[in-house]
Amino acid sequence: MSFGGLAAVRGLNLSIDAGASLGLVGESGSGKSITALAVMRLLDATAKVEGSIRFDGAELLALDAESMRKRRGREIAIVFQEPMTALNPVMPVGEQVAEAVRAHHREYSRRQVREAVLEAMNAVALPDMARRYSDYPHQFSGGQRQRIMIAMAIVNRPRLLIADEPTTALDVTVQKQILELLAGLRERFGLTMLFISHDLAVVSQVADRVAVMRHGIVVEEGSCAGIFREPEHAYTRALLGAVPTMTTDLDKPLAVL
Ligand SMILES: Nc1ncnc2c1ncn2[C@@H]1O[C@H](COP(=O)(O)OP(=O)(O)OP(=O)(O)O)[C@@H](O)[C@H]1O
Ligand SMILES: [Mg+2]
Repeated sequence: MSFGGLAAVRGLNLSIDAGASLGLVGESGSGKSITALAVMRLLDATAKVEGSIRFDGAELLALDAESMRKRRGREIAIVFQEPMTALNPVMPVGEQVAEAVRAHHREYSRRQVREAVLEAMNAVALPDMARRYSDYPHQFSGGQRQRIMIAMAIVNRPRLLIADEPTTALDVTVQKQILELLAGLRERFGLTMLFISHDLAVVSQVADRVAVMRHGIVVEEGSCAGIFREPEHAYTRALLGAVPTMTTDLDKPLAVL
C-alpha cells in the first residue's frame, strides 16, 4: 500500500478464520488504520493498494464499486475510535442507525426499520431506546455513543467486524465494558473480528491471535498467550514492557528501542 509512490504498508499477510478474532497492534503510524480502510476499500484515491484482499472467497480489490458498496456495512462493518466525530451531531441517533438499515434493506417498512434499530440498540445494552430514539448524540455519554456506533455496525449482522481503536477515547472502566460487549457480540452473532489497538493488553482481552505491526510491516504474529509468554521480537517486548504492572515505576521513561 503506498501514497504517491511512498510505501506505507509492505508485505502484509493476514488471515482470520471465520469466527476468530485477530488483534492488530503497533505504535502510532505503523499502518493499522490504513490496513482496515483498505479492507473496507475506504482509502482515498491517492492510495494505491496492491496485492489481494479476499473475503469469503471473493477478491475485494477486484469488485466493482456497487458490489463493494453492498458488502460494506452488510458483510464487513467497521467501528472507529471517536464516536463523537463518526456520529452526525445534528441527527437523532435512532435515525442514524436506521440509515444503516435502509442502506441495505430498501424493502423494509418504517416499522421494520425501527424494529431492527431497537433490536440492535438492545444487543449493545442501551436501555430505554424506544424513548430515546430521537435524542441527539450529545445527550449520550462517551461509552453510550460508542455503543450506538457498535449498534450501527452490527445492525445488518455483518460477518466481519473491524474495530479500530474502539475504546481508546474512553476511560478505563467504560473501556472494559465495551470490550466485554464486543466479546459478547462476537459470541452471540458468531462475528469474525479484526481488533486494532496500540495497546497489547487491550487486544489480548478480545483477540485469540495477534499481529504486531511496525513501520508498515508485521514483525510478529502468534497466539495472544504465546506472545505474552515468549515475545520473539524486540519491538513486541518493548510494547509488552510498556504495560504497567503493580511494580512499574511510572517516573521511569519507557524502554528505548
Ligand atoms: N492519505 C494519506 N496520504 C499519505 N500518507 C498517508 C495517508 N494516510 C495515511 N498515511 C500514512 O500511512 C501511515 C500509517 O497510517 P495509519 O493511520 O494506518 O497509522 P496507525 O497505525 O493507524 O496509527 P494510529 O495508532 O495513530 O492510529 C502513516 O505514516 C501515515 O502518515
Ligand atoms: Mg489508526
